[in-house]
Amino acid sequence: MVDAGATQVRPPVVAIDGPAGSGKSTVAQEVARRTGLQFISSGAMYRAVALQALRCGVAATDRTHLIDLAASLSFEFFTDEHSVVHVVVDGEDVTAALRDPAVGQIASVVATIPELRAHLVAKQQAYGERGGVIMEGRDIQTVVFPDADIKIFLLASDEERARRRWRELVEQGERIDFSTVLHEVRERDQRDTEREASPLLAAPDAVIVDTDGRTVDEVVTCVHRLVDTWRQHPTLHGDALARTAGCDLTKQSSSRIGKGGRTV
Ligand code: DC
Repeated sequence: MVDAGATQVRPPVVAIDGPAGSGKSTVAQEVARRTGLQFISSGAMYRAVALQALRCGVAATDRTHLIDLAASLSFEFFTDEHSVVHVVVDGEDVTAALRDPAVGQIASVVATIPELRAHLVAKQQAYGERGGVIMEGRDIQTVVFPDADIKIFLLASDEERARRRWRELVEQGERIDFSTVLHEVRERDQRDTEREASPLLAAPDAVIVDTDGRTVDEVVTCVHRLVDTWRQHPTLHGDALARTAGCDLTKQSSSRIGKGGRTV
């Protein structure tokens, strides 16, 4: 059954959160490609501040300079003819540079500064004004878009997330052992979930998707189905949306999200 007025509904704002390596970026990009929504990576914005800080020699402890950097940077996201999303910061395509693990580590440190977050959150909210976006991060469903039409929280064990990151790095030609990546994943989890400012958290009305042992395609299919189901029934959220979509990767949202993004 289609809800009355469903055809007049504006394109949704989809918020996807989860811990490092849970597949948010890969899944959100592919769902964006299949649904026509605009993909925005909020993590890329924190990484961009970290990258500029590294380049300009601004220390991770120099809060004033870091906050100024976050306020001044301009961002653009575009998808090329091969469906690859590019991040342009102050006119420069920094997509490859942002993937550097050192940049990721500094990003998780700069992301603990509330005033810096406030500047980036304002820029993120501007993307959602007219709907039609799928944004991934840590606080999208709780802080950036607390009224998002569709909230999704991706889960995966720390070992599985480290394995994914490690494979990705090895494919890019990095020589790094698994235990180092696992250690880094756990370190970032701790910072992202235990910080004062906007810690990683699932919203009470989020759909929890467990990605452990699942392929990217299975997760993408589930999230795509959630978006299509919402378009048919825009009043549905959380568990009700998950039930109607009938996707077997979803968990009851009453399972609380604990340290490292695990359900407890
Ligand atoms: O998702 P990512 O690895 O690109 O994010 C880089 C860092 O930025 C991550 O350690 C946490 C932080 N981050 C955040 O605090 N809030 C967001 N909305 C997105 C990322």
